[in-house]
Amino acid sequence: MALNRTVQLKKIRDEIWNLSKSPLYNYRKKNNYFPVIGEGNHFSKIIFIGEAPGQREAETGRPFCGAAGKILDELLVSIDLKRKDVYITNVVKDRPPNNRDPEPEEIKLYSPFLDRQILIIKPKIIATLGRFSTKYILEKFNLSEKNESITNLHGKVIEAKVPFGKTKIIPLYHPAVVLYSAGSRKVLEEDFRILKDLV
Ligand code: URA
Repeated sequence: MALNRTVQLKKIRDEIWNLSKSPLYNYRKKNNYFPVIGEGNHFSKIIFIGEAPGQREAETGRPFCGAAGKILDELLVSIDLKRKDVYITNVVKDRPPNNRDPEPEEIKLYSPFLDRQILIIKPKIIATLGRFSTKYILEKFNLSEKNESITNLHGKVIEAKVPFGKTKIIPLYHPAVVLYSAGSRKVLEEDFRILKDLV
């Protein structure tokens, strides 16, 4: 019998906890950080995928619980979704030093865990937050949009065949953009309304 979802997700957590071959492992240990695996409803129709944990996330082990997370929470509320209804995770599960961009080898090392999370949760909608998760997911499913920029892709709904049927991918700007450019909140709100129509 297939292991239940929670047991399978816990196995992923245990493997990441012990991922001493990761270039980010020593940094995690030195700072008493946690890996950030993901949280939410294991039966959610929607999975949100960010880039990598920031400081607050690494201190708590929870995805999107800092400044960008506050914006994500507001965007979820704006379309009548609660955090507990969705599943939220990242491509890279440990904090890169000083919030630098994830390195290609870090994405390569951590993405198989994301692949497994997707196979376990079987989301009908994959909402990618920012350019790293968008690029990773579009390449993973070998979609023709894979070389397009997030500026062109945000708010578009892209269908993909997946091992568990079909899913809809919706690339979104990373909520942190609102911290640097207040005008982008409106764009994110509009894109979240498109997401709401899918739900
Ligand atoms: N930014 C991300 O991409 N992920 C988080 O969990 C927090 C901030």
